[in-house]
Amino acid sequence: MTDTTSTVEQQLEITLRVNGVARTATAPARRLLSDFLRHDLRLTGTHVGCEHGVCGACTVLVDGQPMRSCLMFAVTAQDHEITTVEGLAPDAEQMSPVQQAFTECHGLQCGFCTPGFLTTITAYLQENPDPTEAEARECISGNLCRCTGYQNIVKSVLRAAEITHEREAGA
Ligand code: FES
Ligand code: FES
Repeated sequence: MTDTTSTVEQQLEITLRVNGVARTATAPARRLLSDFLRHDLRLTGTHVGCEHGVCGACTVLVDGQPMRSCLMFAVTAQDHEITTVEGLAPDAEQMSPVQQAFTECHGLQCGFCTPGFLTTITAYLQENPDPTEAEARECISGNLCRCTGYQNIVKSVLRAAEITHEREAGA
């Protein structure tokens, strides 16, 4: 016999802190964080490529740590601090060090993968503010760029570290 009582999906009220602001929306329990950000909160800077945790395009920061938002349910991010690419810049007038480095070093090509690189590198430089070139390559090894623009992205990691130090020194 078919059970018809379970066909209606339960809707949950989900509240996250996104880029410093509490945001609430109603979504099914199985809504992925990537879809919740893009469709329910209209933060479309986070891109979705593979939806399998492989490409890194959907990477956001959860309490400062890089996470594949396509592998997380939105409900599991309840009450956590999420940073998307829209929240990386310190203010409307200034890019973040990683964003500035991408513009200086031509790290951005078609831009589809770029939000995931920006969030990944931002978190990495917090842990390792002085990467070697080999470490810069390691840092981005989990992100795929279909334009194969890795050379300039590696340069961007190294330049972002420099910019961060310059800003700290008040240059
Ligand atoms: S869309 Fe999440 S890793 Fe590719
Ligand atoms: S810049 Fe196009 S996929 Fe990376």
